[in-house]
Amino acid sequence: MRANDLSLYFFGRCLVCDRMSIQFAYDIHQTWEANCQRGPQFAEPCPVVPETPMKSFLGLPVRSRIGIAAGLLPNSRWILPYAERGFDILTYKTVRSAAHPCYPLPNWVFVEESSPPDGPVFVTTTLPRDPAQISSAVCFGMPSFSPEYWRDDVRRTRAGLQPGQLLIVSVVATPHETSSIYEIADDFARCAAWATEAGAHVIEANLSCPNVASAEGSLYQDASASRTVVDRIRKAVGGTPVLLKIGTFGTPDSLRTFLRTMNGLADGVTLVNCIRRPILHRDGRPAFGPKFRTAGVLGRAIHEPSVSVVRAVRECIESDDLSLSIAAVGGTSTVRDFADFFAAEADAVLCGSAPMYRPNLAIEAKHAHPEW
Ligand SMILES: Cc1cc2nc3c(=O)[nH]c(=O)nc-3n(C[C@H](O)[C@H](O)[C@H](O)COP(=O)(O)O)c2cc1C
Repeated sequence: MRANDLSLYFFGRCLVCDRMSIQFAYDIHQTWEANCQRGPQFAEPCPVVPETPMKSFLGLPVRSRIGIAAGLLPNSRWILPYAERGFDILTYKTVRSAAHPCYPLPNWVFVEESSPPDGPVFVTTTLPRDPAQISSAVCFGMPSFSPEYWRDDVRRTRAGLQPGQLLIVSVVATPHETSSIYEIADDFARCAAWATEAGAHVIEANLSCPNVASAEGSLYQDASASRTVVDRIRKAVGGTPVLLKIGTFGTPDSLRTFLRTMNGLADGVTLVNCIRRPILHRDGRPAFGPKFRTAGVLGRAIHEPSVSVVRAVRECIESDDLSLSIAAVGGTSTVRDFADFFAAEADAVLCGSAPMYRPNLAIEAKHAHPEW
């Protein structure tokens, strides 16, 4: 058996072998609810976070333009420990206007990259020795606590942050089969208003979850429907900055149309939200069951394509003189990955999955680049 075989990671415990030790903050063998209750598990106490000069993001003061995207942080129990570890832009995982269950396990698997780049990736129980090379796939179904819980918890989270730290709250609608776009927009706006009232510095509308079968999963592909949604959100939140979480676009024209349509209405885009591919076992069985043969791939496998998308978005913003900020996401798990995105002129860089196994990444980045 290889020293870093996943079977040794029992209940998220630390594996120590000759060359490395990884502690997973999130236990993939436990339910989402159990993980939410338990909070992140770290191998060591928090190291000292370097002091960094203030900067701004979306016109708000921040200690760094380094953060965590919607996903790993479902409540204050998770957000505050990561804020303590120097991540300064914290995104509260997508919430809804009513409690919504998580899909059954598995929700998160490690995968091995394989070619072609849009072909299947395969579940693995053997991890690379360097955790920064990990790729994974998720299929949670955007679970949400009830608004009673999350509205209170957003208040608690906001109260626990330090000056120079920003709380983004990610929201989504919960449409029925017959919901009109206006009903979907109103549901988005309701969540956005509640989140703002509870203390969110920034609202993020998730227009792009690859792991839900219903309309809220791919709204960004329809620029006019997205405009209806964002228009209502804007009216509901007044001057609070609004980000739009989006995925990849089929053509440069559809990307351009989307950005032009959102200009003046949203303050920026957060991208990319995973890259959808088939997630299979080696014998061909879909890892998340037949209903979700494809799901979102994260981590190392999507870094390069994500940097390309961010570059394309920046070019479009410049050439069309648009007033949109970019929060870059996609496979950031080393200082070099942050550098790739800043070189592509992202305004902020958010990690999705890597803080699960590299919780001190913000500290590393701040040591190397206090100017970020
Ligand atoms: C556990 C987990 C849950 C996620 N849930 C959400 C979500 O609720 N809303 C959302 O917009 N993105 C969600 N994401 C996607 C991340 O925000 C991010 O786009 C993705 O992980 C790609 O970044 P990475 O390659 O750095 O992991 C989730 C990611 C993870 C790891």
